[in-house]
Amino acid sequence: MNEIVLNHPLITHKLAILRDINTGTKEFRELVTEISTLLCYEATKDAELEVTEIETPLEKMQTAKLNEDNYAVVPILRAGMGMVEGIINVIPNAKVGHIGLYRSEETFQPVEYYYKMPDGIADRIAMIIDPMLATGGSASATIDRLKEDGVKAIKLLSIVAAPEGIEVIEANHPDVKIYCATVDKGLNENKYIVPGLGDAGDRIYGTK
Ligand code: PRP
Ligand code: URA
Repeated sequence: MNEIVLNHPLITHKLAILRDINTGTKEFRELVTEISTLLCYEATKDAELEVTEIETPLEKMQTAKLNEDNYAVVPILRAGMGMVEGIINVIPNAKVGHIGLYRSEETFQPVEYYYKMPDGIADRIAMIIDPMLATGGSASATIDRLKEDGVKAIKLLSIVAAPEGIEVIEANHPDVKIYCATVDKGLNENKYIVPGLGDAGDRIYGTK
């Protein structure tokens, strides 16, 4: 099992509001940011720290810091952009790489329209962010693309995952750990996650 599902009362509470059809754009965005920070907390539990000496007002001490420059946050446009703030709130020096993909409404396959990664991407820990892991096609294509660029350490952070999407990532990319806030029942005939939260991009940007 390569997925870690955040099991916490705060997550359950925030997801209940996020999913609700009556939750408006402003609150939806704020919740996406908050849940993303909580996902980032979990996804950095195994982070390597660098020993450093600092001086408190009372004395010198040996402690440790994260090398934030090691990280690249990779939102899958457009809904993934909604999660960026939640991550850089806690890793402010992480670089951000963008991949533009949309899921064809006919074939449900991802179509790439943009790709721009920070320098030295191969040596960074890439945290792919996308609120929805449905068929897994978009996330899997993103991982393929990053691996083509030599990236060796990849994590996937999603808010709502479907079992079908998790299975695809585990089959195609067993080395990639998935962090999600919930795993839902499955996909409907339009490959939407049920019960889900609807179209994440539309709810973040108030389109439709
Ligand atoms: C949504 C979502 C994921 C993708 C998930 O994006 O944000 O990127 O679908 O589906 P999959 O796991 O079946 O690939 P969408 O294609 O709707 O584009 P948008 O973010 O521009 O709204
Ligand atoms: N994309 C979304 O935004 N929602 C889903 O349920 C599936 C794909």
